[in-house]
Amino acid sequence: MASLIINGGRRLCGAVDVQGAKNSALPIMAASLLVRGETVLQNCPDISDVDAAMRILRHLGCTAERIGSTLYLDTGQMTGCRIPDGLMREMRSSVVFLGAILARTGEAVLSLPGGCELGPRPIDLHLSALRALGMEIAESGGSIVCKAREPRGCRIDLAIPSVGATENSMLAAFSCVGETVITNAAREPEICDLARYLRAAGAEICGEGTSVITVRRGRPSGRVLHTVIPDRIAAATYLSAVASAGGAGEIRNICPEHIRPVTDALERMGCRIRKEPTAVSILAEGRLCSAGTVTTAPYPGFPTDAQPPLMAACIKCCGMTVFVETMFENRFRHAGELRRMGADIRKEGRVAIVTGVPMLHGAPVEASDLRGGAALAVAALGAEGKSEITGLQHVLRGYEDIASDLRKLGAEIYER
Ligand code: UD1
Repeated sequence: MASLIINGGRRLCGAVDVQGAKNSALPIMAASLLVRGETVLQNCPDISDVDAAMRILRHLGCTAERIGSTLYLDTGQMTGCRIPDGLMREMRSSVVFLGAILARTGEAVLSLPGGCELGPRPIDLHLSALRALGMEIAESGGSIVCKAREPRGCRIDLAIPSVGATENSMLAAFSCVGETVITNAAREPEICDLARYLRAAGAEICGEGTSVITVRRGRPSGRVLHTVIPDRIAAATYLSAVASAGGAGEIRNICPEHIRPVTDALERMGCRIRKEPTAVSILAEGRLCSAGTVTTAPYPGFPTDAQPPLMAACIKCCGMTVFVETMFENRFRHAGELRRMGADIRKEGRVAIVTGVPMLHGAPVEASDLRGGAALAVAALGAEGKSEITGLQHVLRGYEDIASDLRKLGAEIYER
């Protein structure tokens, strides 16, 4: 698929079931190394990042097969502890394999994926947490070489509630003698999903979903059956799509509580939101108003990953919407492409000011990152005429089939 063609400017009407969460599936696939046996992972999204994680597992001597939305992993015969540069580069979040490989084999060699599309993505917190747990880490020539000397449970005080550093700490703590207490831990739903998996894998874990998580060594259980939670960012994207184009949509197979800051913003804009236990309905009539100021923050704050699609939905709103991006420094790259469609967006460092325009027009645009690419589709649905979106490889990292999902919501969209 080279590009997506969207004929926008028409109301949406439809329902879509949301895929499983990318950001849960990836750390759980890394965690499957700790089981030393079979994992059956249901509701696993069919996206290129998951393919890359399957290739990493196979490279390590494990088996990884997909049938429909279920992955069958077997890590019983793991043979390696190195992830080569090419595989590390395929998926930037592959660093979460570090804690898992160390916990399983006592050593790991990974290359550093380097800077990425959202700006520099340091892993200093990951490394200092692992060092605190007794891991010896040397960095040389773009590689990190880690050895577990005397892995012992300890207290890890994270300076930032980093999702990845919390996950790596939980994974590495699985093999440590004694108790590990992670303070200022990330509270994202994906952390809770990983904790649920690790518990099924034999670990004693408590406190997930709060800022203090306690992990005790687990006895590998041999086989784990787990269902990945719904993807809250895909859900936020599709709600934003309906807000952008106008119309009515039902977003199903989600956990409404996970996207509360997004539905709150959409309600401020004048959308009517109805929540069911596993679905959210949205009705967007007439010209919407500004969402006010939207500041990204760790969970339960407004998710940084939902900032680009919501910004796209705000372009035609009355008044001014201010986005403050506190998580990643280079996360407004979609703004330039949105301007090509007629958006009025001014960037000042970590702030983007969107002044509502009455109309958008279709344009050829290029995705430069995953969520920014989704934002272009959201805007194109609200723009009069045809848009062509290229750079789809970024979008395929996180959306199973965005064209088919948007079509279910009533969009005129096709692949070329
Ligand atoms: C995860 C998500 C990503 C999401 C992000 C924030 C996955 C696979 N990815 O990314 O989609 O946008 O959470 O919700 O789950 N930081 C440091 N040092 C570190 C680690 C992080 O300074 O060692 C900083 C980062 O630069 C960033 C902030 O902490 O400013 C949060 O990053 P983090 O929560 O670690 O994000 P990821 O786990 O990379």
